[in-house]
Parts: sequence; C-alpha cells; structure tokens
Amino acid sequence: MAFDLEMIKAVYAGMAERVTAARKAVGRPLTLTEKILYSHLYDGTATQGFERGKSYVDFAPDRVAMQDATAQMALLQFMQAGKPNVAVPSTVHCDHLIQARVGADSDLQDAYNENKEVYDFLASVSNKYGLGFWKPGAGIIHQVVLENYAFPGGMMIGTDSHTPNAGGLGMVAIGVGGADAVDVMAGMPWELKFPKVIGVKLTGKMSGWTAPKDVILKVAGILTVKGGTGAIVEYFGEGAESLSCTGKSTICNMGAEIGATTSLFAYDEKMRAYLNGTKREEIVELADQVAEHLRADDEVFADPAAYYDQLIEIDLSTLEPHINGPFTPDAAWPISQFAAVVKEHNWPAKLEVGLIGSCTNSSYEDITRSASVAAQAIEKKLVAQSEFTITPGSELVRYTTARDGLLDTFTEMGGVVLANACGPCIGQWARHTDDPTRKNSIITSFNRNFAKRNDGNPNTHAFVASPEIVTALAIAGDLTFNPLTDTLTNEEGVAVKLDEPVGIELPSQGFAVEDAGYIAPAVDSSSVEVIVDPKSDRLQLLEGFKPWEGTDLKGLKLLIKAQGKCTTDHISMAGPWLKYRGHLDNISNNMLIGAINAFNSESNSVYNDMTRGYDTVPATARTYKAAGIGTVVVGDENYGEGSSREHAAMEPRHLGVRAVIVKSFARIHETNLKKQGMLALTFANKADYDLIEETDTFDIIGLENFAPGEQLKVVLHHSDGTQDSFLVNHTYNEGQIGWFKAGSALNLIRQQEQG
Ligand code: F3S
Repeated sequence: MAFDLEMIKAVYAGMAERVTAARKAVGRPLTLTEKILYSHLYDGTATQGFERGKSYVDFAPDRVAMQDATAQMALLQFMQAGKPNVAVPSTVHCDHLIQARVGADSDLQDAYNENKEVYDFLASVSNKYGLGFWKPGAGIIHQVVLENYAFPGGMMIGTDSHTPNAGGLGMVAIGVGGADAVDVMAGMPWELKFPKVIGVKLTGKMSGWTAPKDVILKVAGILTVKGGTGAIVEYFGEGAESLSCTGKSTICNMGAEIGATTSLFAYDEKMRAYLNGTKREEIVELADQVAEHLRADDEVFADPAAYYDQLIEIDLSTLEPHINGPFTPDAAWPISQFAAVVKEHNWPAKLEVGLIGSCTNSSYEDITRSASVAAQAIEKKLVAQSEFTITPGSELVRYTTARDGLLDTFTEMGGVVLANACGPCIGQWARHTDDPTRKNSIITSFNRNFAKRNDGNPNTHAFVASPEIVTALAIAGDLTFNPLTDTLTNEEGVAVKLDEPVGIELPSQGFAVEDAGYIAPAVDSSSVEVIVDPKSDRLQLLEGFKPWEGTDLKGLKLLIKAQGKCTTDHISMAGPWLKYRGHLDNISNNMLIGAINAFNSESNSVYNDMTRGYDTVPATARTYKAAGIGTVVVGDENYGEGSSREHAAMEPRHLGVRAVIVKSFARIHETNLKKQGMLALTFANKADYDLIEETDTFDIIGLENFAPGEQLKVVLHHSDGTQDSFLVNHTYNEGQIGWFKAGSALNLIRQQEQG
C-alpha cells in the first residue's frame, strides 16, 4: 500500500473538532476550502478567524510530492536538516526529464542513460530519508498522486504548478517551490496568505462532445490567466456531482492556468467510485464517517453569493466544446465559432500534430472517449491527416488501456504512444519538422500553451482542447473542422460524420498493472548511502552555510546596485541553467546576470574593486569570496518577484552576499533570503538608495542587538573618504533571527535535532 492510512485517520479524527472551532472563530457557516484549511493549521485548532486575502497563516500539510527536476535541490537541502526521516509522507516522481523522441521504450532507455546520476541520487536519497520513489516511466506526478495519495479533505503541497490536480479528489493541493517542500519535510510550518474563495456553480449535465475540460476552458475565458490569483476555486452544484472524479481533476489541474492557488470539489459518489476503483476502499469507509465536513455547509449552497468572494455559474447542458489559444490558455473559443476565428486571425488551419494525454487528461475515461473517436477513423476508412501522440499519465493507465485494446486503436490510426512522462507538455519533445520557421498549428489536451512551451518553436501555434476534440481534429488534419457539424471525405470518397464520443469512467475489469514503478523506502536506512558522483556537474552535496560571527558586519563591498525590475529570473535565470539546478556552485554562475547595474545600465557587468575593472556579477562575487570579503546587493522595488525559486536566495548566499538592501521585497523571496541566513533589509527612507556609490564599502551596525522591530544602521564608506549612513528596516521575528544567527533555517533545525 503506497498511501499512509494512519495519517489519513489522524486527519479525519481531528476534523469535527477543528471545523466546529473554525465555524465559531469565523462566526458563520464555512465553505469547503475553509473547512480543509482550518483543519490544517500548524498551531492546531482555530482560536481566531483569518481574513481572506490578507492574513498570513501557518499550515501543516499532510503530504509533499516532488517531480524530478525540482526535487533535486529540495532534497539536497533537506539533507542539511540533519533529520533521519521526512516529517510527513513524501514522494518523488521521475517524469520531467524524459524526452519524447520516437516512442515509449526507446525514449525511456535514453532518459535512463542521460539522467542516470540524477535518478541514482533521487532513488538513494528517497530510500535514505523515507520518501516513496516513483521511477522513470511510472507516470506523471499528478496522475500518480491522484491514483495513490490524494484523499478528500487532505492538504498537500507539490513542487509543480499542476499539483491542484488532486482537487478532483477533494484535496487542497497547492503547487509550491522547493524551499516550501523543504520546510514541510523538515517539520516546519508552511505559510500561505489565507486565500479568497471563488465559487463556481455547475448546473445541468454535459453530453455529446462536451467534456470536463470544456468547463475549465470556459472558466479560463471568464477569469483570464490572472483571475484566480490568491484564490481557491470551489466547484459545487448538481453539475459538479455529475462529473467523474478524473474529470474533476482535469478541471482542478488547469486551475493553474487562471493563477488559482488551487481548485477543489466536494466529496461525492464519483470520488467514492474512483477511490474504490483504485483499491482504496479503506479511505471511502473513513471519509464516509466525516462526509459532512468534506463539503461546504448547507447555508453556503443556499446563498452562495454571501460566502464566496466571486461567483460564477455555468450550465453544463448548454456548454459547448471549446478550443483555447494560441499562445495563452485564456483565449477561449466555443467550437461553433472557432473556424471563423482561425480564418480571421490567419492562424495556420492545417493541423500538423494532435497530442493527447499528459497529467491533465489521461484518465481511463479520457482514453476511452478518444479511442471511440479513433476507432471510427478506422471503421469509416478515414486516414488521420495529422501526426498523433498519446501520453499516458501513469503505468496504471497505460497498462490497463493497453490490456483493453485502446492503445492499439490509436496506433492503428497512426498514433505513437509516448512514455508515461511529461514529454511534449514541458518542451521535452524532439519534434520532427521540415521547416521550423514555418508558422504551424498543433493541438493538445495538455494545460499550458504559451509560445515555445511544447516544442521550443515560437512559430508553433498551440491550441488546447479535450482529448476527444484533439483526436477528431487530428483525423481531419484541419483546425477549422467541427466534428459536431462537419463531414470528412474518406478513402473511398464518401462523406462521413464522426459520432459522438463514448467513454467508460472506470475499467469494467478494474485497473491492472504489472509493475507500477513504485519503490518503497528502506525500513532501516542506516546503512543506505546517498549517491552523488563527486565528478558530476549536475549534482553537488551542499555544505552548511557558516553561522553568524556574532559581530556587526564590516567592510562589505557592493556587488551590484540593481535598478528597476529584478525578478527571480533576473537573479537566477532558468532555461539552460536548469540543468544545474542540483549543483549550487555551477548554477551560481547565473547569479544576477539578468539584473541591470544602476551605474552603467548594463546587465552582468559590475565594478570589481579587487581588479579595479568591470567583470561579470558571478566572477566579481567569486573574487570577493576568495578574498574573504562579504558583499551587499542593493535593489529597487519589489525585488525578487516571480517564481519562488530557492536558487535565487541560495546562490547569493553561496557566493558570499551577506545582505540584500532594497526599496521593497516580494514577500516570498524575502522569506527565502531569511531562510538562507542572509540579511533581507529595506531602506527606511527609500531615497537613501541614491546614496550608494559604485565603489562603496558597507558596515551593518546593530546586529548584536538584532531584535524584531528594531532598525539596523548602514554606514557607507565612499572611496573619496567621506561617509553616509542610513537606517534600514527588517521584518525578522525571533525565530527568523535564530535562522540568521545559525547561518540558515536548516542549520538551526540541525542544531535542534542534534540537541
Ligand atoms: Fe508534466 Fe505537463 Fe503536467 S509538464 S506535470 S505533464 S503540466
């Protein structure tokens, strides 16, 4: 059994008391979102209500899931905590590093050869610290989580944006950065701004070509890519109950495309069926006992507008299939209008590739509905005009759909079955094209369709639709084909029409698998060695950062005074650098190379006082570091906005930056800097930013009495012998000051662990 029944029992055991306390603290009936969140407060039962969209709250998630790209640094960091085991059940999923080239078997073998050092590390570190390990080919993180770990009323974090997929099983599942995963695995609280709650009421019942995917494609059109920011989207209504559990997951998965914190559905009959179908009857038994807490209070349904921050209503009976894109998932087009829109915008109507599957849409139901369309191509003597690929979400789905002959139907139609991995969804796709400069169209049942996402080609117009629509369009080879109304001409010159797709929610013979690809951790891991090749350029064991020396910091040199926008991408660029995400020293060669130097308006060119010339930021930092001189980074407003990438805080720390002084911080980055043991400071008077000169030396005064709410003083020694000084603010609390003193949050945990 891969899931942790004891943990689930413990969550349910405390739920009634916690929900009752929360209802009292908030003073009104509760939405489902609130019930789950208040049941997962780090400090236990609620004693106060939190303000949605305002209060920062510490939570204790039940689980952590990580994919292989983000898990590397997270687990290297976790090792620093000195703990024998992860504090909550956690898993690693090898899905992102497999490139789609020719087909599942050969692609998987290539991935093993090319990523051996990463896989060996992840397998051994999982074995050592009690994490479940899903090996390459086992499946895509979100599908595997849905099949094995998600449970109604639970809360999890995952180091991938589409973690909300588990909302289809009633779980609050949130995508985060690696640093958050480290916190939870190390037993620390996980902080989140208490979200707003958007209600989506689904009425009616869908039929014909319309699929659950169309609900979220429609919602994306309504809310746009930013409309869900800071909110949890809660679906309810009789329409919600009519959707299969995996259909609900598709909707929750793509909630990431509207920026939502997560999305979820209430526990219902469809979830029961899916849990039973995936052999988790024990969870059904337990969930049934707390079912009243796994849905919003009745008063919420009676007057939803009074309880949700925003309310949307969609009638499934009249919902049309949608096609969204290109280049953004919120450009939503009902299929009846799509052909005209394609012509109007002059998008390439010839469809070159149709791709189905991925974490978003590879359930048994999706595959059966698509296969029912593919089977018609064969029966009705239609030759598929586009290339066609199928990406099963997990080995469980692949094995079962292969057993039931569904994958054969696709291959007979001309399709290629890819590995159970992300592949083309994340740009891991060696697409064969005769001319990459040609404007071209593809359509997928995936979630994201930003330029270059799938094949790295800016000329590719990627559209998103349900798998059955993708299959129909791939048969037609034409984006303007509407399977609801149009006919196609077959090999014999006869006009034929595709019938509506037919799906099977759960396999009648049950799911089956020979080797699901799961490796349980060692029971006694004392003799397990974590494998890191010392010659590797992709992985490097971390060394603990040095603790604070106990004195004020004096004689620090300015590394860079950054001007204007400085996001985590400017601080630690992505793209080719991601290869080194498990090797702190190597990836540090991208540190701040995108930031603009305020003195010369150039990127990656700063004054190096040791060599008296200009050099790159990383090279300059390394010169100072080698000489034992600490440095300071100065920044503008909202410094560190963007992704929560922990490298953006670790790299400066690794290369000797002691303080980052800015006009204002993006909150997550500020916290990440604190966790790495650095000083994250803001100008008390923003105009003092202008006092800083290129050749300045800094003293930071007041650290011996470093206390919450107490300002620190910065003295600037200019090269002409003059001085300036100014006050800086900080937001450190007592605990965070402890991190600074210990050298990092993980150092402090290790000290406490060693006792
Ligand atoms: Fe992978 Fe694409 Fe999902 S990258 S996790 S299949 S969104």
